[in-house]
Amino acid sequence: MKMLAVKRLLSTVVQACPLLSIKPTRGLVDEKLQIVVRNLRPKQAVTLHSVHQSEDKDFWEAFGHYVSDDNGTVTVAKDASLSGTYVGVEAMGLMWSLRPVPGSRTGLRFLKKDVLSPLVFHISMYDGHVSQGFTQHTPLESLVIERWYMAPGVQRIDIRERGVRGTLFIPPGPGPFPGVLDMWGGGGGLVEYRAALLATHGFASMALEYLTSGEFKKLKVDVNYFEMAYQILQNHPMVRRDRLALCGLSLGSYVTLFMVATSKIIQPQCCVCISGSHVPPVKTSFYEILLDMKKRLEKHRRENIQELIWRDVMLPIPAELCFKADVGQITCPVLLMVGGDDQSWPTLESAEDMEQIMEKAGNRHLLQVHIYPGAGHLIEPPYSPHHRATNFSLQGSKDKVLMLWGGQAKPHADAQEDSWEKTVAFLQQQLYHATPQVKL
Ligand SMILES: *[C@@H]1O[C@H](CO)[C@@H](O)[C@H](O)[C@H]1NC(C)=O
Ligand SMILES: *[C@@H]1O[C@H](CO)[C@@H](O)[C@H](O)[C@H]1NC(C)=O
Repeated sequence: MKMLAVKRLLSTVVQACPLLSIKPTRGLVDEKLQIVVRNLRPKQAVTLHSVHQSEDKDFWEAFGHYVSDDNGTVTVAKDASLSGTYVGVEAMGLMWSLRPVPGSRTGLRFLKKDVLSPLVFHISMYDGHVSQGFTQHTPLESLVIERWYMAPGVQRIDIRERGVRGTLFIPPGPGPFPGVLDMWGGGGGLVEYRAALLATHGFASMALEYLTSGEFKKLKVDVNYFEMAYQILQNHPMVRRDRLALCGLSLGSYVTLFMVATSKIIQPQCCVCISGSHVPPVKTSFYEILLDMKKRLEKHRRENIQELIWRDVMLPIPAELCFKADVGQITCPVLLMVGGDDQSWPTLESAEDMEQIMEKAGNRHLLQVHIYPGAGHLIEPPYSPHHRATNFSLQGSKDKVLMLWGGQAKPHADAQEDSWEKTVAFLQQQLYHATPQVKL
């Protein structure tokens, strides 16, 4: 009798302190979290909730509904979320299913500008299954975690040389390191976080700004600009000049394909193209391309009242080689990542066309294509949230549109995780392990 009473008392004491544990509380953005809740009652309903305030002060949240096991434990990597912003067994659901809190501005995009500070998340646990009004509930427990793009010891260096604007990230250690020139898309500006994360993985990576908001017309971006940027990276004392890669997303991917197909100066060991195309052509400047794109915008089809589906603007893929980058000329391995539901660029059609051109030219063996069904255009480093559409303004244009990127949250999240793993492994293989090819 006494024993039982003590046991009961103990169990009430234990029940009074549910314990949330998260590892690591300070880690890298592409690291998996281990989230475990202990000391719950058996079969207790709880909600796990994460919230993040962006640099622009918008709040993003994600949550999952769980029921504890017979021991009063919830293990996020093993137990299923029954409902919430994600369902099923999803170790990283509290990250990738983030979305703006109800009542937020529309068309928001999750973008980290300052990579010298971490992404901060408040992870809380609530009794019962809560779906809204989180601020009015008192959590059973909350923890703050930090997620970093830059590992300790990575150096960030501003590049302002010969008119080239960029940021170079150098991995910790004596070096020199293989180098990556990293380019983003038509949204322009200087986007640093992928280059910072690549440096964390051992590559001296330079984020290159080639379209600048507002000053677009003043900026004469052409082939020379990219060649100068490449040489600046190549000649840096911390960079191995014989171990270089280009990496691009969207328009940056087009730049990559065009440069490696045509430039005598840009001759990297490999390149990574995310959501890219070998169309349209560069004539003399990128301004012309964008003017051309604007003209073709008139052909666009709109899904909702203002949702823009850009992919149609670029279709059909021209048959004549003179209207595209001649990928048959490429002499280095190319990794191509394609979102099967990309609504922004015709990446599937482009991949097929590239395969055909390269087949004919005899360099098809250099092309590795990964198609991710259900993924959209913005394939980012892992665990960042999926956006089906966001506000977008084309450089050189005052018009803002809601750009439809495509994809669904879950397959898109899977694509981000898998493509990032493959990208890092590919760069490691080509830049650290492969024997540099002798170029003829
Ligand atoms: C509960 O804990 C016991 C002892 O630690 C363990 O053997 C058992 O597998 C656990 N049950 C569940 C459902 O995790
Ligand atoms: C996106 O555009 C809409 C319509 O112009 C506007 O109401 C909204 O505030 C914009 N969102 C952001 C994040 O700028």
